[in-house]
Amino acid sequence: MSIFAPFLDVLAVGVHPATRGIAAGKHYTSPKNLPALAGADAVVRRADGSLAHVSAMGAGTLAERIVIDPATAVPVPDGADPAVLAATMNPALSSWAALRTRVPFQAGQSVLVHGATGNAGSMAVKVAKHLGAGRVIAAGRNRNRLDELKAEGADAIVALTPDEDATAAAFAEAAAEVDVVLDYVWGAPTELAMRAVLGARTQRTRLLDWVQIGGMGGDAITLSGHALCSTAFRVLGSGFGSVDMQVMQREFTELVAAIAAGAMAVRPHPFPLDQVEAAWAHEDEPGERTVILL
Ligand SMILES: NC(=O)c1ccc[n+]([C@@H]2O[C@H](COP(=O)([O-])OP(=O)(O)OC[C@H]3O[C@@H](n4cnc5c(N)ncnc54)[C@H](OP(=O)(O)O)[C@@H]3O)[C@@H](O)[C@H]2O)c1
Repeated sequence: MSIFAPFLDVLAVGVHPATRGIAAGKHYTSPKNLPALAGADAVVRRADGSLAHVSAMGAGTLAERIVIDPATAVPVPDGADPAVLAATMNPALSSWAALRTRVPFQAGQSVLVHGATGNAGSMAVKVAKHLGAGRVIAAGRNRNRLDELKAEGADAIVALTPDEDATAAAFAEAAAEVDVVLDYVWGAPTELAMRAVLGARTQRTRLLDWVQIGGMGGDAITLSGHALCSTAFRVLGSGFGSVDMQVMQREFTELVAAIAAGAMAVRPHPFPLDQVEAAWAHEDEPGERTVILL
């Protein structure tokens, strides 16, 4: 970064699972040394008055003014709402980056979103459709949220219930032939989902890319070697670190434009900076995201 990088006014900072995880030292981008600044991303005002979005991850954004590498600032179109962008960018970029940079996704292909009822999963349903997916299957625990996702464009739903046989049967019926899985759950629920989908697959040489994005159900899985060699099956991840930052910047620019145009949105739950403790403790309702306004 240039030593002449200017201070920028911060307008809005999202409090995402990664924001809390980084601050708690539990995220792979958590700073190694203290003191450290919280905040994983922000909408900022530049010196010329224009707005930009920045993803600073471990570098921190939760301050009235920050210094960033200007090359990492993604331009925000005039008229965009900083709170909506701060709420939506982090959840939406997870599926956007995965589908645009990590897998050979093509319009018309089918996508299963495992863990679709959280904000990132819900955005994944919208993003997949926006990028041309032919069929999108939403799998999650919250039945009301699944029904809302169906009304908002999901082609099929899979209810994740404590009844493992019923859950496996639902995966087999709805998702046996998908091309891409965007997985926000991982852990034991993913082991079940993989067994069910692979077990029911009829076209075994048809490529299936299973993309780990989130770990709401655990950080590890046991994967049988048989699963990998008996099917055209690839397991990979998507996140900061797995994609070149220049490529990410290009993709983020398109995503910001799509959000600003109203293609997708997470509802912001705004708090002023002087209520930062209440903001940090706030548990978001499905479909909303805490945003600190500065
Ligand atoms: N790699 C990336 O680029 C990237 C970017 C953004 C987010 N992420 C990750 O994606 C994950 C989700 O983020 P988010 O913003 O969507 O968080 P969120 O809005 O808080 O949603 C998390 C959801 O996970 C669901 N969940 C928790 N345990 C589950 C389980 N065992 N089975 C099924 N669903 C379960 C819950 O839904 P119900 O209570 O409705 O079941 C909850 O609403 C996090 O791990 C986050 O770090 C990754």
